[in-house]
Parts: sequence; C-alpha cells; structure tokens
Amino acid sequence: MSRTAKIVLNENEHELPVVTGSENENAIDISKLRASTGYITIDPGYKNTGATTSAITFLDGEKGILRYRGYPIEQLANNASFLEVSYLLIYGELPNAVELQLFEGNIKMHTLVHEDMKRFFEAYPAKAHPMGVLSSTVSSFATFYPESQNPNRNSEAVNLTIQRLIAKLPTLAAWSYKNSIRHPFMYPKNHLNYCENFLNMMFAMPTEEYVIDPVIVDAINKLLILHADHEQNCSTSTVRIVGSSQANLYSSVSAGICALWGPLHGGANQKVIEMLLKIHIDGGNVDKWVEKAKDKNDPFRLMGFGHRVYKNFDPRARIIKKSCDDVLEKLGVDDPLLEIAKKLEKVALEDDYFKERNLYPNVDFYSGIIYKALRIPTEMFTVMFALGRLPGWIAQWKEMTENNEPIGRPRQIYTGHGSRDYVDVSKR
Ligand code: MLT
Repeated sequence: MSRTAKIVLNENEHELPVVTGSENENAIDISKLRASTGYITIDPGYKNTGATTSAITFLDGEKGILRYRGYPIEQLANNASFLEVSYLLIYGELPNAVELQLFEGNIKMHTLVHEDMKRFFEAYPAKAHPMGVLSSTVSSFATFYPESQNPNRNSEAVNLTIQRLIAKLPTLAAWSYKNSIRHPFMYPKNHLNYCENFLNMMFAMPTEEYVIDPVIVDAINKLLILHADHEQNCSTSTVRIVGSSQANLYSSVSAGICALWGPLHGGANQKVIEMLLKIHIDGGNVDKWVEKAKDKNDPFRLMGFGHRVYKNFDPRARIIKKSCDDVLEKLGVDDPLLEIAKKLEKVALEDDYFKERNLYPNVDFYSGIIYKALRIPTEMFTVMFALGRLPGWIAQWKEMTENNEPIGRPRQIYTGHGSRDYVDVSKR
C-alpha cells in the first residue's frame, strides 16, 4: 500500500509520497516539493536528509546493527578476507571460489605503481602528510590511465579502474610512509596476501626481512573490513557527489580521501593518540582527566568515545576490542600511552556517568591503539582508514552511476544583502 505525508503551507494541503526501505525505514519524498509549492527544505549537514536509496549497507544506530549487502559485520569480520568483502560490496554478492581466485589474481596483476610516479614522491617534502600524497597520487592515476575518463562508463574500463585502485592503494600508502622517513620503497610481493603485502611494504627493508605475524595480519584484515563501508558518511557522500558530475572514479575517490582527512571524520583515531599523549605529558593521572571530561565547564572532551550515529554502542568497536587485546598481548608492548588507554577504557565501560551518556569506546579508539602498538605512525592512521573505506567508495560510486542518478545540486536559503548598486572604489 503506498502511503503519503501531508504538509499544510499557507492553508493549502500538499501530499507527498512516502518511500519505505527494505528494513522499514521511512522517508518523505520532497523531490517535487519546490515545483509544486515554491518551498525547499533546509537541513544543514544533511543529518535528516536521505541523499539516495542504496542497497549496499544497512545501519541501525539505535540497535548497533551494521550489515554489508545483508551480511552482519560480525560474521564478515570474523570469517572473511578483506578482498572477499570488497567483492561483496562492489558486485553485490559474495564471490564463489572461482570468482574470488580470479578477483585476487586481477588485483595481484596491478600492484605495481608506474615507475614514473616515483618521481612524484621525490618531489614531495619529507614532512608531506601522507593523506595529501595519497589523494594527489590517486587523482594522477586518471592521467596515467586515460580510459578511466570515459564518461560512458564502459564496464570493462570501470572494472580495470576498480582493480587498479584496490591493487595500487596499499603500494601508494606504504610508499608515502617510506618517503616520509626517506627510506627506499619496497616493491609489492605477489606471493603475499593483501594485508601481508601491505605490512611488508611498510616495514620490510632492503637490509632485512620483515617477519609477518599472523595476529597482526588478522587485526589489519579485520580493521579494513570494519571500515569498508558506512553508508552515506561524509567521504562517501563526497565520492557520490563528485561522481554525480560524471567525474571519473579516480577523481571521485581522490575527493573522498580529502574528505576523510578531516579530524571530524577519518582523522579521529589520530586525535585519540594525541589526547593520550596530552594526558601522558601532564603526568598520566587518568582520574584527573576523567573528572575534566565530566566537568561541563571544562572544554576537554574525550576523543574516541561515543558516536554520531551509534546511540548505544558501535558494533565495530565490540569486534575490534578483542583484536586489540590480542595484538597488545602478542606484542607485549610496553608503552605508557597504551596503559593510559586501557585505564580510560575501564573507566568508560564501568563509570555510570559514561554509561548513562553512551560514551563507550568507539572503533577509532581501538584502531588508534592497535596502530600505535604496530608502530604505524600517527599520521598514517587516516591512510589506514582510507585503505579500508576504498571498496565502499567504489561500490557507492558504481551504484550511483548504474542508477543514473542526477548531478548533486542542493539549494540554499539566501541570507545576504538585498540588491544594491556598485560604488566606485574612489567613493567607498
Ligand atoms: C565512518 O565510519 O564513516 C564514521 O564512523 C563516520 C560516520 O559514519 O559518520
């Protein structure tokens, strides 16, 4: 049964269609509101606006549910590989054994980055933030692979672009790190799996082998899966809106990387470590900082606690907490920041103040701790997030283009001056 909503404007009643999703989420379709009434709706930050319908990710913030293509995140994170999940997000179904082998083979074929691109790295300053390097090198791919610019979205060319992006992003990410410490780049080794290969390019040196620890590989695999998609978040919306102008996939993903860079989005786990450092430099008195966090008049806020859309708990944090414990135990890391993190976690999970306000440790809190324990430099944390989010961006871009969605073009309510006459500079 189709339902409608009614609004009354200047005593005139207008009927608007109601759209219902497969999980019974409801929306009022206002796409024709302006044409019939002259009114638009206003919603800064689009917090109450559905920008699209999508069949990729379902999220229920109240119940702490996250599913990719219908599969619960818990099942995927505990059983699947990141490439399997990437395939699921992008092509809609889990691959069978042959499809997975083919997909993995295609990714391995493209792990090398064009040698000419190495010269870009030489030109960046050593202190270049790796997110800046990543977004600009991804954007440059469109110049190396001009077939990606075909606006007709030829599916063979799109698939090639997808494979190249997934294959090359770990190489670029690891090289941006090696570049920042002015160490020689390590080339991909295709007998290694996706996560092993990335770790090897990050930590191996020409002078010594890097011993790949399965506990660390498992933690990285889980982290990438947990970050792989999160419906219409800031960077994904950016990818969709850039792609809606029929910009190519490389440019759209590059824009997504830029959006992810900000501390309110992907930069949050970096902020967790900065907060721990601040507490440590101050003497490491966790109780003092907990009291500060509780004090309404104190500007200090705990980073990595609570979440914008998860009102009770972040399902991703529940999964990664276990990996975090495994990694810390396995590595036996002795780091005062990690000690502070463990104390803060205990307080947040036990203290009524935090429990009542749903200030539980979120995925950024645990991912920050794991990356720190793995000696991944803080500036690389957001790059790790980008590696994970890549298949989500691709899937959302692909869905948008396949659905022939129109160009993104929000409106505004103008609040500036009324019409006024130009005054010559000599008379102002
Ligand atoms: C994400 O995974 O993108 C973040 O948790 C932010 C969000 O969903 O708004």
